[in-house]
Amino acid sequence: MNKPEKLPSGRVLVTGATGGIGSALVRRFASAGLDLVLVARDAERLEAFSKEIVQEYGIKAATIPLDLMQAGAARELAAKLAQRRIAIDILVNNAGVTHQGRFDEMAPHQHQQIIGVNVVATTDLLAEFIPPMVERGHGRVLNVVGAAAFIPVPFMATYGASKAYLLSLTESLAEELVGSGVTVCALCPGLTATPMTENIEGSNLSYVKLISPTVSDPAEVADAAYDACMRGQVIHVPGGVNQLIALAGNTMPRWTARRLVGFLARMTT
Ligand SMILES: NC(=O)c1ccc[n+]([C@@H]2O[C@H](COP(=O)([O-])OP(=O)(O)OC[C@H]3O[C@@H](n4cnc5c(N)ncnc54)[C@H](OP(=O)(O)O)[C@@H]3O)[C@@H](O)[C@H]2O)c1
Repeated sequence: MNKPEKLPSGRVLVTGATGGIGSALVRRFASAGLDLVLVARDAERLEAFSKEIVQEYGIKAATIPLDLMQAGAARELAAKLAQRRIAIDILVNNAGVTHQGRFDEMAPHQHQQIIGVNVVATTDLLAEFIPPMVERGHGRVLNVVGAAAFIPVPFMATYGASKAYLLSLTESLAEELVGSGVTVCALCPGLTATPMTENIEGSNLSYVKLISPTVSDPAEVADAAYDACMRGQVIHVPGGVNQLIALAGNTMPRWTARRLVGFLARMTT
């Protein structure tokens, strides 16, 4: 394991800070006494949440309302932080978008949204914030990936592919950065009770519940994520069932995993 010599103690930047897993991560970092920068689109919700955690945990929090779909969003965010002289010690790439349905029945802009946030903005944020961490000789990155990265995900194909991309990117970066003092962790939770998963029941994604019958609590996922990120773990899969999914995805011949998931998906639609 890549153990940085100096533990980061400064600011934590969390994207998608007001969502299910994002807000739980914000609370977890705040409860450890770390100051925060919160990013999401809805400025009012962001401000209200920020006030709440400042009051509750006695930490400092800055808010930056931003649509990560916009071209140059990561550059704009880095420039705003530089203006305020805020350096980021821990980057939490949590914001993520999904749309479900048959690929051929989805509108092109839905695929673009998934790729725009989950792939483009996430990569841009890594490109903005990792170099200063390497220069300072310490830093942590937590990429919120998901167990979907390990297996094919029919009816959520672009989303699954975006998460497989992020898992691969995380592993390569973790190796490139060995000895730099900067660690990169992929958090791979399964189904978690957030607004993102509200409509799974009765949809053509209901097979996911057969594969991953337990739905995790965001606070528990955030606790596990915090520990893994601080330990410098490269891949963390919270929960026994999700670990089995990851193991199956990593060890089964690809055709077996694909046919099995495809069979379950067809059976439940
Ligand atoms: N829930 C699960 O079962 C599950 C499982 C595995 C992995 N994950 C991953 O965990 C992460 C968080 O998921 P979640 O379920 O907590 O999602 P969520 O409840 O839908 O929250 C999404 C958050 O991202 C923000 N956001 C969305 N689009 C944005 C954009 N274009 N620019 C900036 N911020 C944006 C939202 O706030 P605004 O709307 O105000 O922008 C919100 O704060 C995602 O990466 C997801 O893929 C989720």
